[in-house]
Amino acid sequence: MPLPQLDMPVTVAVIGSGSMGGGIAQLAAQAGHPVRLFDAQEGAAERALERISADLAGAVKRGRLDDAQKDAVMGRLSVANTLLDLEGCGLVVEAIVEKLEPKQTLFRQLEEVLDESAVLATNTSSISITAVAQGLVHPNRVIGWHFFNPAPRMKLVEVIAGLETDPALVAEMHALSRAWGKTPVDAPNAPGFIVNRVARPYYAEGLRLLAERLAPLEAIDRLMREAGGFSLGPFELIDLIGVDVNLSVTESVYAATQQDNRYAPHLIQQELVRAGHFGRKSGRGFYDYRPTAGKLHAVGLAAVGEAPALRVAGDLGLLQPLVERLQGAGATVSRDDGLAAGSFAFGEVTVALTDGRTATERAAGGGPLLLLDLARDYATTTLVGAAASAGADAHLPVLAAALQPAGIELLRLNDVAGLGVMRVVCGLANEAADLVTWTGTSAQDIDVAMVLGTAYPVGPLAWADAIGPSRVVQVLEHLHAHYGEARYRRSPRLLRARFAQESLHA
Ligand code: NAI
Repeated sequence: MPLPQLDMPVTVAVIGSGSMGGGIAQLAAQAGHPVRLFDAQEGAAERALERISADLAGAVKRGRLDDAQKDAVMGRLSVANTLLDLEGCGLVVEAIVEKLEPKQTLFRQLEEVLDESAVLATNTSSISITAVAQGLVHPNRVIGWHFFNPAPRMKLVEVIAGLETDPALVAEMHALSRAWGKTPVDAPNAPGFIVNRVARPYYAEGLRLLAERLAPLEAIDRLMREAGGFSLGPFELIDLIGVDVNLSVTESVYAATQQDNRYAPHLIQQELVRAGHFGRKSGRGFYDYRPTAGKLHAVGLAAVGEAPALRVAGDLGLLQPLVERLQGAGATVSRDDGLAAGSFAFGEVTVALTDGRTATERAAGGGPLLLLDLARDYATTTLVGAAASAGADAHLPVLAAALQPAGIELLRLNDVAGLGVMRVVCGLANEAADLVTWTGTSAQDIDVAMVLGTAYPVGPLAWADAIGPSRVVQVLEHLHAHYGEARYRRSPRLLRARFAQESLHA
């Protein structure tokens, strides 16, 4: 089967004109293609054209487009009333309901209408591309082309080959993605592809930390944003995505992995969906968005007393920039070679970075211990989480007094294994490393996908390199021992990086 030259102004058919189809149609028209938009629901395609027109009018107002350009884009868009009106299209992008049978039926009907060289792309976010192509005469022209919402603005697109997809088509879709101003990555035809797979621990660990009462939900969100550098915390993000939509992605990954416990839906989220609390769109989710609701904002712990003098270990490891910052803000610091590497102390209290054990376990038989959570960058962070070993809570306000002169607020956490940012980041890195191990996806594609598709501050594998693969493995092994759950099994790829002392990008 000859493949068409997709970079020519090939006519594009977009099927399904909801949130995604409308955006993809706009994108295709802006890239210069004639576009025919079809939707099974009467009037839906026309409404999509109205939304596109309003969006372009906004761009004209902001000076990004002139009227003539807007008219040219609108002039390339037309509505197809039946599938027969799609005859002659060289590329179809399917964005209909997320169910296998309707997609298969549609593609079989399209084979009757279209030239045999026409490319059939599906924007599915969870269904196997091989399954969509099943039963077609030419399954080699079916490919996954997964855009992110809103399609005209989100830079990332995942390109997914099914078992029968022509490898030459993958290269063509990369070229076309770039021509449309997107950054393409090769994603495996595996549950969740890259972004929806690697992001699972962000939600799953967030929910488990909430259930175990690491801190109130607004405090966990604040910790992830301000200490972790994520643009939204897990609960505000789920509320934005839709509690129900996010749950259905979890359920589909869970089902497609033969119910791997790592992806099991969480009761807290299931209960919200049962109660109709779908997030922002329904006025309530994890948060209450109704006008009568009060605003929640987690506040840091009040500092008590003067900043204490600090004794520091010769090798501070990841805490080095933090201690330098405290010193720069006037702290008295002396060296104490009796301290374990990676720790500092004031009075009888030791302070260390979490290694995946609780403070209480680590302190057993010794003096009081405070554990710090990971921060994206200790040299600039304005917030750090910390927990105390049993009986040592009274020392947390003194640690807050030590951090305050450097402009760092302390957020009190309960003594939960691995704390917040560290546990989430190790979970994300482990998931990413497993995708490398089990599907051969490149570390580069994963990190690019997570930064562009979810606005993470850095790719999870680059982050694991910065923390050190040994530290990530250690945290996961401690979590595994603590909970006795297979969800924390560490990835073979992480283990290799640890023993070979190589980068996860090697
Ligand atoms: P939507 O519900 O907003 O739009 C779907 C449209 O398809 C509706 O207008 C519906 O009338 C039409 N439709 C349904 N069955 C049809 C059929 N057999 N033939 C023609 N039209 C049909 O859905 P949305 O959110 O735009 O999602 C569409 C696809 O894109 C799904 O596969 C979804 O998983 C995927 N996706 C969604 C993302 C999102 O954030 N909403 C992100 C990336 C992919």
